[in-house]
Amino acid sequence: MTNKSASLNTGNGGMDLPILSGTVGPDVIDVRKLYGSTGMFTYDPGFTSTASCESKITYIDGDQGVLLHRGYPIEQLAEKSNFMEVAYLLLNGELPSKDEYNTFVNTISRHTMVHEQLVHFYRGFRRDAHPMAVMCGVVGALSAFYHDSTDINDPEQRRIASNRMIAKIPTIAAMAYKYSVGQPFMYPDNNLSYTGNFLKMTFGVPAEEYVVDPVIEAAMDKIFILHADHEQNASTSTVRLAGSSGANPFACIAAGIACLWGPAHGGANEAALNMLRQIGSTKNIKEYVARAKDKNDPFRLMGFGHRVYKNYDPRAKVMQKTANEVLDRLNVQDPIFDVARELEHIALNDDYFIEKKLYPNVDFYSGIILNAIGFPTTMFTVLFALARTVGWIAQWNEMIGDPSQKIGRPRQLYVGAGQRDYVDIASR
Ligand code: SDX
Repeated sequence: MTNKSASLNTGNGGMDLPILSGTVGPDVIDVRKLYGSTGMFTYDPGFTSTASCESKITYIDGDQGVLLHRGYPIEQLAEKSNFMEVAYLLLNGELPSKDEYNTFVNTISRHTMVHEQLVHFYRGFRRDAHPMAVMCGVVGALSAFYHDSTDINDPEQRRIASNRMIAKIPTIAAMAYKYSVGQPFMYPDNNLSYTGNFLKMTFGVPAEEYVVDPVIEAAMDKIFILHADHEQNASTSTVRLAGSSGANPFACIAAGIACLWGPAHGGANEAALNMLRQIGSTKNIKEYVARAKDKNDPFRLMGFGHRVYKNYDPRAKVMQKTANEVLDRLNVQDPIFDVARELEHIALNDDYFIEKKLYPNVDFYSGIILNAIGFPTTMFTVLFALARTVGWIAQWNEMIGDPSQKIGRPRQLYVGAGQRDYVDIASR
């Protein structure tokens, strides 16, 4: 912290507001006493200039295109680590020793099964239900099964609930896919890695042995790492706000899944591939770029732009490289990938995108990889939610453990009618 302050003059008085500094990144003006001292609120719809909390988990420098998890650059983690190790890092703050890693992986692998009654929840959905709707319902229902781990004030119950959520989300996600294609659910196989187990539960069938392709497993694991956490984005803020009321962790994660579904957020990966398919060919790109620039046209380039990154999203760079590897491995000539690369090239050289600092984000290339692996577009955001569950859980634990945390309750600028008396219907 520092002893710097900002002087505020409201016209009829004012105050000095403390300026706080973190390890790195912008200082903050502490406005916690503003309303008590001036009777005024701050006003910041969309929270473009608002820090909602202190955190040690993830740091983003949007201008430099930097993303650190507990200080480690995302490029290094994607290249050298694996999703379970990154999960441990996000949850505990340090990279695990070999014993710590093995203990964590073994613990997670022994919570991968879901209560057999949960199967009946799926049967209530139409087969063509969007898998994100199923995820919202089934994850929210988990709190009905685990009353022994919903006391959020008990650190041991928080630990068990955290491990259960991280362990079961791949099983729940794979079941959502199986249900949508009318195939039987596959039970977890604890002999496989976290990611390999997910691939087998998703693409394996009881009728024959499923062998995990190590290249696909590595690509999927990297995609999970790239989606694991991302500071105080909309869905993480939703999880924190839900958790601030004392709601159980399963309900909080269900709230995060619901928020992530939006096309401006996690739903953009599905929307981006649908957009690339709509464009269809490199010869149509200029028309769509013109539409994206037209204020009167609601069309936007999905997978482009970001609230924080005003430079290339570092995750998108790793994603593009992984897309090349997977398409080569699967010997897939996907014309959509050519459209994506040409679209990126045209957009990045267009004054509109340069001036507004719009670059590809994490969602621009991910769909091309997931499509090549065999996932339907409706599963793309489910995979984002699967990976982000670790980040949500880490952020939720950090919030619960923060002694200064209290229920989130923003105020407003009221612009509605002033007080007035009721008028009987006969007199209206
Ligand atoms: C994720 O927050 C996170 O960290 C999220 C995420 C995570 O890991 O959790 O990174 C994951 O959600 C990535 C973003 C995925 N969404 C998309 O790809 C959808 C398309 N992108 C846009 O909707 C938009 O860029 C947002 C929502 C991502 C960011 O919007 P902002 O910060 O509110 O910015 P804005 O909408 O005010 O845009 C600024 C300007 C506007 O023009 P002006 O009003 O200033 O004239 O840029 C334009 C916008 O019209 N613009 C775009 C554009 N994105 C912004 N124009 C064309 N195409 C786009 N994609």
